[in-house]
Amino acid sequence: MEIIQLHPEIGAEIRGVSMADVANDDNAYRAVRAAFEEHSVLVFRNQPVEDKIQVGFSAKFGPLETAKVASLGEGTPFSILTNVDPVTRELVPPTHKEALRAKANQLWHTDSSFRETPALASVLSARTIPGVGGETEFVSQRASWNRLSASLRAKLSNCYAWHSYAHSRGKIDPGLASQREQNALPPACWRMRWRNPVNGRDALYIASHTGGIEGMEDKEALTLIDELMAISTAPGHSYEHVWRNGDFVMWDNRATMHRGRPWPMDKVRYMIRTTIAASDADGVSEMRPPHHPRKAA
Ligand code: OGA
Ligand code: MN
Repeated sequence: MEIIQLHPEIGAEIRGVSMADVANDDNAYRAVRAAFEEHSVLVFRNQPVEDKIQVGFSAKFGPLETAKVASLGEGTPFSILTNVDPVTRELVPPTHKEALRAKANQLWHTDSSFRETPALASVLSARTIPGVGGETEFVSQRASWNRLSASLRAKLSNCYAWHSYAHSRGKIDPGLASQREQNALPPACWRMRWRNPVNGRDALYIASHTGGIEGMEDKEALTLIDELMAISTAPGHSYEHVWRNGDFVMWDNRATMHRGRPWPMDKVRYMIRTTIAASDADGVSEMRPPHHPRKAA
């Protein structure tokens, strides 16, 4: 297996081991798992793009999430991100829910921090690429953590933040998260520092979904979250993945943020994501607030 680093802070391309190898061979899995723990974003090129391979690969890392309520792929392991209407098979207009969701995906985030169980990793495959735009950009939240002052790190280590799907969707359109989605996805609260149990490295755990901090006035919390976002996503710190046919990209949701980049909406983009839920072995138990707060309605 060859590991080719993509950016000084984040990302590596894996060569010599395929997605199918990982699905079928424990030694291949262990080698790729170690690279995942180290590099946070892994790129596989020239793979056969098949659902079976994507699921087989992903399931080695842990239990798969099912796509969330009212999303394309709901109830299956496949989250579908596209600007094509699933019924009419036509490109959607800019006001369509899937077009607005694409915009929400263009906010810096980590996947599923609003869920009852956060995500360990996501695996994304490009099924139709638009030819221009539509890249996916990543930052290392370990590097972000290390850019914070020692006093801020000490403070955030014991801060717990609220993550909600309605919060990030509301930045795009106040009606984008329906009542049904809000009922199914109540806010979740997580420590703001995720410590990797394998290598002890700390990462700043925030997302577009983060809308409040326990024990802090909302105004103060939102200002702090904005400041942390600006530090995390400062120019020069990202790896931008330019998609080619046959690409799969996997990322560590504990230690990164990502965002989709815009593309011309008269071009089809169709992506399929599988998502692996985090377990206690991935450090989730340390993330839960000690007193299990519940957000007031
Ligand atoms: C995702 C995501 C960005 C993109 O699949 O979780 O945010 O570029 N994708 O499609
Ligand atoms: Mn995402």
